[in-house]
Amino acid sequence: MELRRTHASLIDQATACLVIGVQQADSVEPTGTELDSEIQRLVTSGDFKPTSGTTLVLHQPRSASAERVLLLGLGKAEKFDAFTQTECFIALGKALKALPITEATLDCDSLTGGDQGKLERLGYGLEWSAYAYTTTKGQETDTTEDAPKSLETFHLLASEAQVTAVGRGLIIARGANTTRELGNLPGNTCTPRFLADHAMHLAEQHSTLTCEVFDEDTMAEIGMHCLLSVSRGSDEPARFIVLTYQGPNHSDTQPKVLVGKGVTFDTGGISLKPGAAMDEMKYDMCGAATVIGCMQAIAEMNLDTHVIGVIAAAENMPSGRATKPGDVVTTLSGKTVEILNTDAEGRLVLCDALTYVERFEPSAVVDIATLTGACLVALGKHNTGLLSTDDALADELLRLGRETGDPCWRLPIEEPYQKLLDSNFADIANIGGRDAGTITAACFLSRFTENYRWAHLDIAGTAWFSGGKVKGASGRPVPLLVNWLAE
Ligand code: BES
Ligand code: MN
Ligand code: ZN
Repeated sequence: MELRRTHASLIDQATACLVIGVQQADSVEPTGTELDSEIQRLVTSGDFKPTSGTTLVLHQPRSASAERVLLLGLGKAEKFDAFTQTECFIALGKALKALPITEATLDCDSLTGGDQGKLERLGYGLEWSAYAYTTTKGQETDTTEDAPKSLETFHLLASEAQVTAVGRGLIIARGANTTRELGNLPGNTCTPRFLADHAMHLAEQHSTLTCEVFDEDTMAEIGMHCLLSVSRGSDEPARFIVLTYQGPNHSDTQPKVLVGKGVTFDTGGISLKPGAAMDEMKYDMCGAATVIGCMQAIAEMNLDTHVIGVIAAAENMPSGRATKPGDVVTTLSGKTVEILNTDAEGRLVLCDALTYVERFEPSAVVDIATLTGACLVALGKHNTGLLSTDDALADELLRLGRETGDPCWRLPIEEPYQKLLDSNFADIANIGGRDAGTITAACFLSRFTENYRWAHLDIAGTAWFSGGKVKGASGRPVPLLVNWLAE
């Protein structure tokens, strides 16, 4: 997808499709040209209701040179928050994709009013909607005359700075689309070794990125026995992946660190999950995929920062060798863990990664994990769960979540919950009982993050859409984290 700045006027632009944003208001004058009376008539007559994300295509409009005009409803100005903007611009991308065209012209003024954030979300929505999962589909392709063509070029009626902002959105969405693709790939393709190969390949493409991968022998030598306890039951070996990004002119001695849960399939292990919807546990590596998507995006942006992305990748399977309830393992930190439930495996792979990253003396660490079904119960599929022992870091992420339309909501980590993890046979138990599952999971992680500023994002609800036709990875929270890394 390519962006080109156009200098023609909106009326004279020769294009297959001119896209104009229309707000829901008493009088509409989106373009300040003769086109406005045509648009106003459609709105007044009720033929076009410009609620957010609604589209209408006009063929050969009288007062413009474009072959078509596509009107995009933006809804009421006061309701057009960042989340709604993203949804709206994704709807635009889908509508354009359905047309038999390969280029379009965007009137950035009527679509965004020149607002940086809106421009970024416009680029994000267009690129996000261009992704479709095809990798393991058969050869059935639509070759008919009016099959949808993919849009290659966007001409922007915009300033240089506005084009840059849209371009930023495209890059973030390409990162998110990588996250989505890795998430959507089935567990028999996307294994820990596959994730490692992908990370290696990404690093080969950017001089600012390097990648290091540890195999199980190396992990055992270092002492990551808790991580290894999860892959014990699987024929797929675990991998520990470290991606390092150093921007061209960065002066940060202390890196920001991302840590991703990369459970490429979670059966629950010996504490086997019930069968219903178990296929969705291929998405249990979406934290890892988020790390990769973010590293790709910041490398493409060439940000002047220092970021380390770490992935703890393992497959959680039952077998004769698998970890059993009651087993006790020693973590990299030296603390022992009584594994009362092998299905609480995310925290087991993460704790060793969180201890490992201490050596980077990070300015802050954020881990991303599809950690608890309880988070889905508490927050649903809209807000990511945010838990942190650092109020300033939590506030930063909360604010950025609202600003980027990739929101999170904070749950507490407090002393009384910590007691729920007491064990008679080890330093900590890996589960805290039925209550407050998201909080006790974060409490477990907090035992390994005492030496740096840390926040935890539970993306169990937000990393993918569930059920039937809409099932698919969302690419969240890539927008939130790329913006955090860019600040
Ligand atoms: N990967 C799951 C969490 C999950 C479940 C995410 C469903 C999204 C949808 C995690 O490894 C898990 O199984 N957690 C257990 C923890 C429990 C055993 C304390 C859970 O949530 O049931
Ligand atoms: Mn599990
Ligand atoms: Zn899991």
